[in-house]
Amino acid sequence: MTATAESNWTSIEYPRECTFSNNDWEILSNMWYPLALESDIGDKPQKLRLLDVDLVVSRLGGEYVVARDICIHRGAPLSEGWIKDGCLVCPYHGYRFKSDGQCVLVPSHPDWNIPAKLKLLTVRHELRYGLIWVCLSGQPTNQIPVWEPEESDGNYRRFHLGPEVWNCSAGRLIENFIDNAHFSFIHQSSFGKEDSATMGADYEFTQDEFTMTMEFDYQATNPDDSPIANTAELNRHMHRTLYLPFCTRTVISYPEDREHVIHFNIAPVSARKAQIIAVFHRNFDHDVPVEDLLAWEKKIIYEDRAIVELQKPEEIPMDIAEEVHAKADKASLALRRWMIKLGLEGEMTA
Ligand code: FES
Ligand SMILES: [Fe+2]
Repeated sequence: MTATAESNWTSIEYPRECTFSNNDWEILSNMWYPLALESDIGDKPQKLRLLDVDLVVSRLGGEYVVARDICIHRGAPLSEGWIKDGCLVCPYHGYRFKSDGQCVLVPSHPDWNIPAKLKLLTVRHELRYGLIWVCLSGQPTNQIPVWEPEESDGNYRRFHLGPEVWNCSAGRLIENFIDNAHFSFIHQSSFGKEDSATMGADYEFTQDEFTMTMEFDYQATNPDDSPIANTAELNRHMHRTLYLPFCTRTVISYPEDREHVIHFNIAPVSARKAQIIAVFHRNFDHDVPVEDLLAWEKKIIYEDRAIVELQKPEEIPMDIAEEVHAKADKASLALRRWMIKLGLEGEMTA
């Protein structure tokens, strides 16, 4: 399968030893996913995995290149190579590839008229908000999230956590981030309050082709180790957008126009591993060191991690009747219905 003539990316095919069924993999490969932070791509090629496909991400001559982690000469992993003169160098025979993917030097035959086929198997990518977004098929059916106004408004301070790979499916993980009824329990040692349980369960919900939104108030505790200043309790107004299938943007508004925006960016590494990059924007507490804010966020999302890595079955059941749904679960139920409509079966081959 080849891409359109004007593009230089390749449509990646179903990998060997894939943990997704062929059906599900084909559908999921038609999505944008947040693969890496630009700032993490330095002077070495970096290996990453998406939907069981090994990829190499490099910065060549000021441009980011995402490609299959395989050299078309003899199949060596390019991520074991290095960068020289703005080219990615294969570690096996030293072939050099430049940012448009083409091989420009075969060291054993420097005068060879290099065939056009000798190139990187590049994957379609976009840069947005300092992240590298990737679509394996090159034909995305979803949309990259919108991070405004927090990205362009200088009053917000930005920090991030990850990328980290967790032992859970991307489906279970994103369901956690659109689930509000868990705050009062799993987060009792951070911000959750048991007698606020009904607040997280009753929320306004809307959806369109690419997003789902949730809006509600939650009365949170504010323990002493929280970096948020001086009050034992806080009303959080929460407005969350799920960018289908695996990214959320949540605006948490506190009194006096204080806003904390959380972006959870999830990419399915395999059917049972998910990579998370969490990006935070905050327009207050600028005197609090970022390390303290980050430590607090980490404490909270590791409370989530502790439970999502234990859920069974690991994948979301695509049979609606397999689990029980309360009113609080309307967002996750809508997500499951969207997945079923898309044709996902939730079956794994491994
Ligand atoms: S396998 Fe890459 S140059 Fe030979
Ligand atoms: Fe949580």
